[in-house]
Amino acid sequence: MLLCVALAKALTKRQDSPEYAQYDCVEKIMSEKCPFQFDLMNPEKMSRGVPFDEFKTLREQCPVALQDSDKGEYWAITRREDVDFVSKNPQIFSSSENLAHPQPGGEDPESLEIMKQLIINMDPPDHIKYRKVVKNAFTGRAVDALEPMMREFAKDIIDKIASKGECEFVSQVAAEMPLFVICSLTEMPAEKRQTFSDLVDIMIGMDDPEMNVSQEDGQMAAAQVFEIAMELAVTHKAVPKEGTVLNALLNGTVEGEGLSEFEFCSFFLILIAGGVETTRTATAQGMRLLMEHPQELQKLVDDPSLIAGAVEEILRFYPSFNYMQRTAMQDVTVGDKDIKQGDIVRVYYPSVNHDPDIFGDDAEEFNVTRANEMPDLRNQHRTFGIGQHFCLGSHLARKELTIMFEEIIPRLRNPKLVGEPKNLVSSFIPGIKEMFITFDPEQA
Ligand code: HEM
Repeated sequence: MLLCVALAKALTKRQDSPEYAQYDCVEKIMSEKCPFQFDLMNPEKMSRGVPFDEFKTLREQCPVALQDSDKGEYWAITRREDVDFVSKNPQIFSSSENLAHPQPGGEDPESLEIMKQLIINMDPPDHIKYRKVVKNAFTGRAVDALEPMMREFAKDIIDKIASKGECEFVSQVAAEMPLFVICSLTEMPAEKRQTFSDLVDIMIGMDDPEMNVSQEDGQMAAAQVFEIAMELAVTHKAVPKEGTVLNALLNGTVEGEGLSEFEFCSFFLILIAGGVETTRTATAQGMRLLMEHPQELQKLVDDPSLIAGAVEEILRFYPSFNYMQRTAMQDVTVGDKDIKQGDIVRVYYPSVNHDPDIFGDDAEEFNVTRANEMPDLRNQHRTFGIGQHFCLGSHLARKELTIMFEEIIPRLRNPKLVGEPKNLVSSFIPGIKEMFITFDPEQA
């Protein structure tokens, strides 16, 4: 239990918390600063929307840019070839040293050590060994087996709101599918789903001061998720089920040994962290984009076979993460800049995804048929990262999003925003907290 609380503590402190310490290593950065300083780590600024114009300036003028932030200097990498170089060389650019994402570490070494045991924060050789276990949990078979259930669930979500003509899209639509899928993959009984959903909300709420969730609430919620994971393991052992993520985790081995209790719970947690908020963000941002581009939406209403391709464009246009973080483990040159051992490096996916050198002159436009014109679109953008840590849930996320939009688009006709969406205050996740919409009420 102590360990649970310690992990919970680490998980629920956030980049935007005053406790987020300056990394010692960033103070060592000596290279020349980029003349364009864009405050990309400022949560308030980033919550106003992804700054694509600023990324354009960096890409064109200073693609490997030493940036200031109140938490220390870091390198912002904005061109794909450099993003790929950093992401594909984990022996040079560590995910473990200062974590791959902006969780605090410096001030609380115990929490940092625990966070390093999440797969996303591992380096080779451990990373490869552990990834094999989770990889087996996300076989196409496991995901495909869920499709009929996902379809039914998506219909239920829309059934609940279609005749009303209005809804709060994030909680009533976008948040529902990812949670349902995670619960199914982890064999969560129906009666526990609401509790689980509340716990996830509390943990996610820690991101944002407005959401008024205390650090203690967050710690307790994460500890409870650990307890749920342990209960599910006991139930599964009594009545084993084939083909679920839980089954793969409980039967997975690393060098011939099964996962320890702690390793099992850590995997459970990363799936929740990786699987819920990301897909919810993509669904909400996708809906916003479609409402803001009614002509593009109309193309999908007229021809729903275009929806899977449109999902790829949503993923490209507005990725669910602004960046991932690495630490240089040796002196290295990236582009024309000398990066020193210990420097913090952040790879910015939205910048890559809007690069006209890759996506053409209309790269800054939202074009739902782009995948028809560029059949390789899914391999060209970097929304799911690249290299050793490439997202394990990409197949699942694409399926969830496609099924959701296939149910939303024909039934929520003429959707319109009511006021402005309320964005999550975070420099890491361009999430939407609340988005009220109206649409033509469905006739019975
Ligand atoms: C639109 C939805 C999603 C997006 C945009 C996304 C994005 C990403 C990105 C960019 C990474 C790479 C991290 C790095 O390089 O450091 C990643 C890793 C990961 N994602 Fe996703 N993700 C999504 C959905 C999911 C889902 C649904 C799951 C599982 C339920 C998931 C599980 C993971 C895991 C376990 C990793 C770590 C892989 C590793 O370290 O080897 N993700 N994701």
